[in-house]
Amino acid sequence: MKTILITGATSGIGKDLINILANKNYNLLFIGRNKRKCEDLKNFLENTKKIKTNYYISDFNDLNSVKKMTEKIISNTQKIDALINNAGKVYFSYKKSLDGIEKSFQINYLSHFLLTSLLIKNNLFTKNSQIINVSSVAHNPNSSINSLDKIKNKEFIGKINFQDINYKNNKFKGFSSLFYSRSKMAQILWTYYLSDIEKNISINAIHPGLLGSNVIYENGFLGKIITPFFKLFFKSTAEGAKSIINLLDLVFEQNLTGKYFDEKIESKSYSYTYNKIHQKKLYEESHKLLEKFIKI
Ligand SMILES: NC(=O)c1ccc[n+]([C@@H]2O[C@H](COP(=O)([O-])OP(=O)(O)OC[C@H]3O[C@@H](n4cnc5c(N)ncnc54)[C@H](OP(=O)(O)O)[C@@H]3O)[C@@H](O)[C@H]2O)c1
Repeated sequence: MKTILITGATSGIGKDLINILANKNYNLLFIGRNKRKCEDLKNFLENTKKIKTNYYISDFNDLNSVKKMTEKIISNTQKIDALINNAGKVYFSYKKSLDGIEKSFQINYLSHFLLTSLLIKNNLFTKNSQIINVSSVAHNPNSSINSLDKIKNKEFIGKINFQDINYKNNKFKGFSSLFYSRSKMAQILWTYYLSDIEKNISINAIHPGLLGSNVIYENGFLGKIITPFFKLFFKSTAEGAKSIINLLDLVFEQNLTGKYFDEKIESKSYSYTYNKIHQKKLYEESHKLLEKFIKI
């Protein structure tokens, strides 16, 4: 039986994903940050779906917690056939994580980089294993979410600012999609680089669609007001989950790697993401930021 590990399974796309996969004869493991939500999900899967499952707790805002949680997975698990790096949030203003790193970059990208690197280093993946990074069309500066930043922050949009990766020298005022977009671009650059160096694992990225979820909820009063409209006007998160499962099945059948999917269709990501120098540079910078955690 194949084992699938999913991050961010307690809400939105991840929750629908695990619910659908529970009908498909997989061994399912998940990661969440909230113990009560994890317990509720485990009880639902075990009592209603009649499958055994296990969960791990980690707040991706804290890299130490990501490392400790990954060590537990490593000691309890023999192999992972698919890792779905799905956890993520939109933060419309500059915030720092517990580690002092820009929050969207850490939660959406760097924590997954740490989790994945430790699993690879400890040989948890086998020859036909796959990794799916849940990215977003927001990585592309031409996507509508970036319209304001194309005017306000045009020198930062559509690239990784390697000379000041933590935006230490820039004070951003007001709302910006820059932080989210950059984190989602980082996931794609990393997907392409990793798929080049890890020849035994299939690694792909996907934009799951524009879906009504809680992804923008953590933006103060405005996030709470906008979220119900978001859920009303966008497609359901189950549609995003189905697109991820479509990719999962396709990769198990055909071993595709280094691809970007827009929902169910293989697509081109933004031109910047194909630059091998940027891919390598981001990989090396990410390693530097995580140096003390990756050495175990
Ligand atoms: N919705 C869209 O339109 C859309 C479009 C493109 C891409 N995406 C991507 O799809 C993925 C899933 O998002 P969603 O739309 O399903 O949003 P969501 O409903 O807010 O779900 C996000 C998941 O990530 C978890 N998470 C957030 N912060 C975390 C942290 N610090 N540590 C550990 N887990 C954390 C959440 O945990 P809690 O349950 O505890 O909150 C939740 O399970 C994200 O990567 C998002 O960027 C979404």
